[in-house]
Amino acid sequence: MRNKVIAGNWKMNNSIEESVKLISELKQGLNETDIKVIICPPFTSLETANALIKGSQIELGAQNMHNETSGAFTGEISASMLKSVGCKYVILGHSERRAIFGESNEFINKKVHKALSENLIPILCVGESLEEREKNITKDVVKKQLLVGLDSVSSDQAEGIIIAYEPVWAIGTGKTASPEQAQEVHEFIRTLLEEKYSKETAEKVIIQYGGSVKPENAFELLSQKDIDGALVGGACLKADSFLGIIKAVKN
Ligand code: PGA
Repeated sequence: MRNKVIAGNWKMNNSIEESVKLISELKQGLNETDIKVIICPPFTSLETANALIKGSQIELGAQNMHNETSGAFTGEISASMLKSVGCKYVILGHSERRAIFGESNEFINKKVHKALSENLIPILCVGESLEEREKNITKDVVKKQLLVGLDSVSSDQAEGIIIAYEPVWAIGTGKTASPEQAQEVHEFIRTLLEEKYSKETAEKVIIQYGGSVKPENAFELLSQKDIDGALVGGACLKADSFLGIIKAVKN
């Protein structure tokens, strides 16, 4: 039985002051029966967030990292730096990193290995563009992203990883994949994991859906058999909508 996990990707939003306000409101609204929640603030708010979430069921993630340990990589951040500010998770291969910053599947795979070697849990994002969906190559695209992203990742390591299926056409657009469309790809991802590893491993991997998740559609999406949580963008920036998603979901 997989537990549901909701993560909020703040993207490039929130000053320290705004972060404090949002986290305080979230803490006030959560109670012990709610499911596990991860927040992924920008780098500048991580340390503050880490101090504020102590003793709550909120855990901390980052939105990206570099695969090298240290050195001349201006503007980048390392896995050990993220660990030092309390991160447990890191989003890797988000479609915005792929599309805007040209990250390849191979580069993302290097980051996955680095994260795992530092005991950070990768939230590995995969998902097709609108053009790819219209060309009927969704499964080919997702398969390549998943298998290259997980290249040389062992079965033990894979069991702890989170996969986020985020159709690019649904991100920030208000267009959500229908529960059936999402379930179809989630099931496909689980089958790929079964083929690569084993049924046992595949059954343990959390597969989140992302793309315009809101309180109104969260329950239906997360009721699907292979949808184990959500990676939320826009709706995680306001405490009431993020809480609305969390409350819509029960383990
Ligand atoms: P959205 O973003 O919820 O605003 O569509 C999701 C994401 O990019 O992770």
